[in-house]
Amino acid sequence: EKGGYEHFMIKEIFEQPRSIKDCMRGRLDSQTGRLILGGLREYVNKLVNADRILIVACGTSWHAGLVAEYFFEEFCRIPVEVEYASEFRYRNPVIREGDVVIAISQSGETADTLAAIELAKSKGAIIFGVCNVVGSSIARATHAGAYTHAGPEIGVASTKAFTAQLTVLNMIALLVAQKKGTITEQKLHEMLVEMETIPEKVERALQLNDQIQDIAATFKDAHNFIYLGRGYNFPVALEGALKLKEISYIHAEGYPAAEMKHGPIALIDEEMPVVFIATRDSSYEKVVSNIQEVKARKGRVISVVTEGDQLIPKMSEFVIEVPAVHEALMPMVSVIPLQLLSYHIAVMRGCNVDQPRNLAKSVTVE
Ligand code: F6R
Repeated sequence: EKGGYEHFMIKEIFEQPRSIKDCMRGRLDSQTGRLILGGLREYVNKLVNADRILIVACGTSWHAGLVAEYFFEEFCRIPVEVEYASEFRYRNPVIREGDVVIAISQSGETADTLAAIELAKSKGAIIFGVCNVVGSSIARATHAGAYTHAGPEIGVASTKAFTAQLTVLNMIALLVAQKKGTITEQKLHEMLVEMETIPEKVERALQLNDQIQDIAATFKDAHNFIYLGRGYNFPVALEGALKLKEISYIHAEGYPAAEMKHGPIALIDEEMPVVFIATRDSSYEKVVSNIQEVKARKGRVISVVTEGDQLIPKMSEFVIEVPAVHEALMPMVSVIPLQLLSYHIAVMRGCNVDQPRNLAKSVTVE
């Protein structure tokens, strides 16, 4: 059942080129410029005309929501708020006509997310679901939606569900942008072509496995980790830190790189590993300065960079090179080495990676 792999988690990490491809199959075609999401058809105009999009989710799914916030705002020019379902449901949130809710959940059973949906529904909002488990409670509670089709995810730490969520959310956003006219035909074509390259780029990122295993061996006894990124890579930093803490029990924090100087920088000394997600994008120069700030305080820098980067390797103890891709799609590629890093560290520490202590695959109690 683990297909020759030692754990479900690593099997699922390696399934991603396939699961992303399955997620796009029959839905995205760069040749014709068509995006077809059958489960959305009836309600898609609600999204096109939305005054605001509210995204509700928990954990890793919430991180996917953060990436989607940047993506929807960039391509659809619709304001987006990303909410922890548990906070949203208990604070008497403002939900207006013209708001559309997107709920993201791998399991489709997360109690807080389900309750957030019911609350928004009771106020008249239209709800879209992005779920992995077909026929799950959340899939049934929403008005419309699109499945991620990642296949069963058994490891408690979410991996392939995350990249499939991003794939679906990107397709929804591009479809809305197309209908709204906030993207040119040429740009849309370019994005669809880029989307189609993702499985192959993820495959190449997976080839870094041996190198990442060596990095893991160096840092397996660390007590803390900091993950930093900006722009589309900021949620990736959060996700990298969550993966590490949940399966290896090493304390880790993810931060937007620029926020570091508002507090976390005080933690940096010669023992602190700092993972920068520093691929070539519009915030590249800014991230380079943040790396210099960490270096100046003797932090141990591990950088995820775009292949061929000349500058950051000179400033890093370890560099992980991933293939270039449009910055809005980079999270699907840049998260791969972070998944692998947390996996190998957890294995080296003798942790139960598929079933970490105190955690359940679906959190059906609040
Ligand atoms: C992290 C993880 C959890 C889930 C969260 C939401 O690896 O697995 O943080 O992402 O419990 O679960 P779903 O997506 O099933 O609603």
